[in-house]
Amino acid sequence: MLETVIKRDRDFGTPASTSTQQVSVTIDGTEMKVPAGTSVMRAAAEAGINIPKLCASDNLEAFGSCRLCLVQIEGRKGYPASCTTPVEEGMVIWTETPKLHELRRGVMELYISDHPLDCLTCPANGDCELQDMAGVVGLRNVRYGFDGANHLNDTADVSNPYFAYDPSKCIVCSRCVRACDEVQGTFALTITGRGFDSRITAGQNDSFLESDCVSCGACVQACPTSTLIEKSVIDMGQAEHSVITTCAYCGVGCAFKAEMKGQEVVRMVPWKDGQANRGHSCVKGRFAWGYATHEDRMLKPMIRGDISEPWREVSWDEAINYAASELRRIQAKYGRDSIGGITSSRCTNEETYLVQKLVRAAFGTNNVDTCARVCHSPTGYGLKTTLGESAGTQTFDSVMFTDVVIIMGANPSAAHPVFASRLKRRLRQGAKLIVIDPRQIEFVDAPHVKADYHLPVRPGTNTALLTSMAHVIATEGLIDEAFVAERCEAKAFQQWRDFVSLPENSPEAMEPVTGVPAADLRGAARLFATQGNGSIYYGLGVTEHSQGSTTVMAIANLAMATGNLGKEGVGVNPLRGQNNVQGSCDMGSFPHELPGYRHISDDTVRHQFEQDWGVTLQPEPGLRIPNMFDAALSGSFKGLYCQGEDIVQSDPNTQHVAKALASMECIIVQDIFLNETAKYAHVFLPGSSFLEKDGTFTNAERRVSRVRKVMEPKGGMADWEVTCALSNALGYPMNYSHPSEIMDEIARLTPTFEGVSFKKIDELGGSVQWPCNADAPDGTPIMHVDEFVRGKGRFMITKYVPSDERSTRKYPLLLTTGRILSQYNVGAQTRRTPNVMWHSEDLLEIHPQDAEDRGIREGEMVAVQSRAGETVLRANVTERVQPGVVYTTFHFPESGANVVTTDSTDWATDCPEYKVTAVQARLVTAPSQWQAKWSRFSDIQLSLLEQRKREQDADVAQAAPAAPQAAPVLSPQE
Ligand code: SF4
Ligand code: SF4
Ligand code: SF4
Ligand code: FES
Repeated sequence: MLETVIKRDRDFGTPASTSTQQVSVTIDGTEMKVPAGTSVMRAAAEAGINIPKLCASDNLEAFGSCRLCLVQIEGRKGYPASCTTPVEEGMVIWTETPKLHELRRGVMELYISDHPLDCLTCPANGDCELQDMAGVVGLRNVRYGFDGANHLNDTADVSNPYFAYDPSKCIVCSRCVRACDEVQGTFALTITGRGFDSRITAGQNDSFLESDCVSCGACVQACPTSTLIEKSVIDMGQAEHSVITTCAYCGVGCAFKAEMKGQEVVRMVPWKDGQANRGHSCVKGRFAWGYATHEDRMLKPMIRGDISEPWREVSWDEAINYAASELRRIQAKYGRDSIGGITSSRCTNEETYLVQKLVRAAFGTNNVDTCARVCHSPTGYGLKTTLGESAGTQTFDSVMFTDVVIIMGANPSAAHPVFASRLKRRLRQGAKLIVIDPRQIEFVDAPHVKADYHLPVRPGTNTALLTSMAHVIATEGLIDEAFVAERCEAKAFQQWRDFVSLPENSPEAMEPVTGVPAADLRGAARLFATQGNGSIYYGLGVTEHSQGSTTVMAIANLAMATGNLGKEGVGVNPLRGQNNVQGSCDMGSFPHELPGYRHISDDTVRHQFEQDWGVTLQPEPGLRIPNMFDAALSGSFKGLYCQGEDIVQSDPNTQHVAKALASMECIIVQDIFLNETAKYAHVFLPGSSFLEKDGTFTNAERRVSRVRKVMEPKGGMADWEVTCALSNALGYPMNYSHPSEIMDEIARLTPTFEGVSFKKIDELGGSVQWPCNADAPDGTPIMHVDEFVRGKGRFMITKYVPSDERSTRKYPLLLTTGRILSQYNVGAQTRRTPNVMWHSEDLLEIHPQDAEDRGIREGEMVAVQSRAGETVLRANVTERVQPGVVYTTFHFPESGANVVTTDSTDWATDCPEYKVTAVQARLVTAPSQWQAKWSRFSDIQLSLLEQRKREQDADVAQAAPAAPQAAPVLSPQE
């Protein structure tokens, strides 16, 4: 059931055993077989017998502290705890006897004698395991009274913005501590004191907010009482119904139960059966959903003739008709290819598919691109070239079978936190870890996790580093020759082997380039090649480089050379930043590809779409996003439909983007907030949040998961409906009554989605991994099992080419960028939640030596200047970055990291080189200097408006002094 009345998920008490050996036991007279190692509690639960429990939960190792789960076992003395007692062959167990009832009642009596009896006013009333268990054991009165020592007046900690901790209700079951350790891997909680004085403590007796707690919510979910409880439940009371949906933040794609009261979300609870997250969450998906109903939401369509004019609220019909007429006017004046569209990696597959269809079929051009252009387009190119498919190879579950992991250019604890928790669990079990990153990310030295090697690569030299790793593997006889001989192209492999074996690719020769000590690199390469199952997880620190595509191919080379593809525990795994980056690429958002990564010039494929869509399609690729900007500045690109994407803030070289947008005649922005791009827009169409629509997202595992509407669209229309309306107004009919029909069309036209439908997804428990077709009716968890999608794997030569962005005397530091846990992307959503309590501005991380050289101290304002521009950030002096490297995040428009990033791009895909910008940093002494910088967006806009006014005035003076109002904003010649 995917829409349910609220009920607690079934809990078997202890984790399932993975043993293949079966053991026979008899419980309450019923004989059964269970896997060896199963606890008595779980064996009973699987037979439908629920033994009372408080400290046990099936996502945690058994602890045995509450003594409520006692059973009788024939031939054994005493009453063992069923949660910590494993079954044995022939065991005869009784779970309900008068003696057990008496013992359990006694235990409950002790708990209740130190627990406030305020059930009627308690926020957990009706959803409290303590309350339930008191009923189950038949406790009717408490003999001890409340006169003695107790915890009833202990003070609550309400410092965390999302949940409260009320120790007066704590039964010290330790579920929260174990959840933090075992599920989340943060180890923020301990039990301090002994016996009666035992209590749960965050950090070093800190408040939750001050402690190491990362607000994942695992402890809150684990708590069987209302000791740890969501503040939203305290405020709103218990929910009435729930709907399963998918988180709209990162590419992990966690499944959640949206617990609702009418149209209001009470809380988001990670869904235990979610196949990507297995019941876990991070602070963003779990708690930071308040942006969806934030007062800044724009709910009315608006239009204006010029960006210097104020917005005018209009009806949906007027806005859509105006947008359509402007687009047609521009095409009539400047030609068919003078307009285009940008799809969003935050919108659903169905919405993204419709936008690219709109552009190709209704606009009649291939000028469509997606924000994946600026993040993972090199993944698509690199993996397609080497392996034959533009996607990651594994499930997240696969990491539990890995023996050695490379994390490269990714910071999973910040950007993919739920996956990070799973990986940490595997590392605690003994898997080895190699971190390749210029920064000391958390994984280098986290609680109970320490990297075996941290290779602090100099920004821009990833290709050199991986090639020298390959050199070690090739020259030290560590290649998996049998795998390569059977699975890869022989000639390309030999050429690659010859290339990487060259002395100039040795770690020693490359050390001055990469900055990584040769001995460390050799050690890491040997470890990866010899440890067993090796997996590689990488992020934007790989792709957002001038050699991003080359580095992705170097990763694939490494995996093929070591035989680490096609089974559990291995693989090449791009960690996707946004929720639907994979999906937006799958859906044909790139100008050269139709859905399913088929080239637009392929006549057979194009004709198939032409027949289905009833139009003629252009056979040549359209413009990529950077080409759109260039064409706008040269006067040939004049109209843009931009759905769910803030290109002014997210694309590099803000000044260049702003100028390009300001030179256009009709920009249609569809978003939930009036974003920075909307400042240059002529039509604003309200977007809808993920809570307001049906559809699917595809996560980093190729997992297509359902997104379900839990409330009506606040602006009146879901995003897919808006695209249909615009298409209809343009004269190209799009009539769907539900997003499931759009998915049916996608399946009809896309071989890898052939078997996907909303019905199928429901049948498979909420998600399916593509390819899903006749060959793989239930989807494909692991790719390239017997052969690569392209047949034989293809090794590619990965010659290191230095980036143009190099440190110079003028710009001696290399700026690299990344994310922080509490914020997401350009921050449009998370900045509108209490998450700002953890991160309220972007900081510049600078090494103490570099700071001292410049007289910069912690917390001071620093001007960061590149050849593209300048911004001002507060300094964080830290050894997390190496000397010569500075680092910042890009979550706040005020600091705008992209004002300084340049328009240098990946050679194959035009993905911007965000990760390498040569900069200088200097102390800003006069506050007015940085205050002025922080209003830079208005500055840029103001100067552009002034410039345009001057141009207009000049035009008017030359041409038509009598009718200045009628003069076009920009003439065609411009
Ligand atoms: S919210 Fe998460 S990190 Fe914080 S204490 Fe609870 S389990 Fe640990
Ligand atoms: S806070 Fe909740 S989970 Fe933690 S020990 Fe107390 S009752 Fe148990
Ligand atoms: S890990 Fe990603 S998908 Fe999961 S809850 Fe956090 S932001 Fe959402
Ligand atoms: S549930 Fe077994 S001792 Fe608590």
